[in-house]
Amino acid sequence: MASHLEPDSLPAPGADGLVHSAALIARIEQAIDAAGGWLPFSRFMELALYTPGLGYYSGASVRFGRRPEDGSDFVTAPELTPLFARAVARPVADALIASGTREIFEFGAGTGKLAAGLLETLHGWSIPVERYTIVDLSGALREEQRQTIVDHVPALAGRVHWIDRLPDQFDGVLIGNEVLDAMPVRLHVRGAEAWLERGVVRTAGPDPFAWEDRQAPHADALRTLLDSIDADEGYVTESHEAAHAFTRTLCEKLGRGVVMLLDYGFPEREYYHPQRVEGTLMCHYRHRSHGDPFVYPGLQDITAHVDFTGIAQAGLDAGADLLGYMTQARFLLNSGLADTLTAFDPRDTISFLPAANAVQKLVSEAEMGELFKVIAFGKRVDPDAITAFVNGDRSHTL
Ligand SMILES: C[S@@+](CC[C@H](N)C(=O)[O-])C[C@H]1O[C@@H](n2cnc3c(N)ncnc32)[C@H](O)[C@@H]1O
Repeated sequence: MASHLEPDSLPAPGADGLVHSAALIARIEQAIDAAGGWLPFSRFMELALYTPGLGYYSGASVRFGRRPEDGSDFVTAPELTPLFARAVARPVADALIASGTREIFEFGAGTGKLAAGLLETLHGWSIPVERYTIVDLSGALREEQRQTIVDHVPALAGRVHWIDRLPDQFDGVLIGNEVLDAMPVRLHVRGAEAWLERGVVRTAGPDPFAWEDRQAPHADALRTLLDSIDADEGYVTESHEAAHAFTRTLCEKLGRGVVMLLDYGFPEREYYHPQRVEGTLMCHYRHRSHGDPFVYPGLQDITAHVDFTGIAQAGLDAGADLLGYMTQARFLLNSGLADTLTAFDPRDTISFLPAANAVQKLVSEAEMGELFKVIAFGKRVDPDAITAFVNGDRSHTL
């Protein structure tokens, strides 16, 4: 896992990176001016990550990888080991069979490793997948995804399609790994008298951006949420309007099938705990994590943990059934992750040890096993048909 560092100790980007970041800074400055001098943080985050051609996910910089030497910033489960995709194939197969559907949708498909691994494993089990449809805001990643799929499963590459947005209705199994945490969040600060919204202003000094907290109108649901927090003055937290709307839309559009979302986060009670005084906003740059989103805009990832209670409510509001909510460790072990290691000979330490280390990282409580969760929604599917959700469900904690 990444270490926490002060931004000053981060490695400096190259000249091209600085030019890229300067162009994005200028774009964000224009947006601040156009908005009258103050932008809600959610809009800053959206511009930093998704401004066409310049944002972190819509530009061309390297993001996913195992080491800082690759120029990458963080590693996700599908990048860590192909065993992740092989294990996730089990519940995906159960969901395809239970729903009688033959299409997989993947949101935010990264480098395409999960897609390639799922297609290969399901094909090996003779589970029919007629189409694998990728929806990603990042056009720059499409080429990388296509290449990964052609390299790993050339015979199945013709089944993969890319679309910009989901159709109005879809049937099938939808999966998104670490997509919710990449959605813009609003920031809220407990002031002496009331909750304030934290936004971004320009400065006259060498740093282009600074924080400014303002009184802002709150929708009833947000006001109720903020008022429920036992927060002292200075407490900072996030709200997740974009992730909730995204989940609601997915579940509204789901005709028959399953939506599975994997990410790091907690139920509301834990998320808005009085001791979580700084919230969960986090930036990732060259495998270091820190809390300053104004560093190198466009070159670093900005994320927040997921509030799974809000996600569950959004899916239920859209008429979907909550099929399960559990830790990633329990989900992957239920899906046979440990068994995937039997494909390796323990005496062949060169291949066995890295595979065993990756499995350990995925399930260890100290690493990704406990912090990462899986939530699944279904429509017209028997909840007991997905065996990965039968043991260890924690829906009652939401
Ligand atoms: C942290 S990356 C995870 C990538 C990949 N799933 C993995 O695990 O390696 C987040 C991805 O979500 C995508 N994303 C964020 N919001 C999205 C949305 N509304 N629709 C589609 N993709 C989205 C981003 O473009 C990015 O590719």
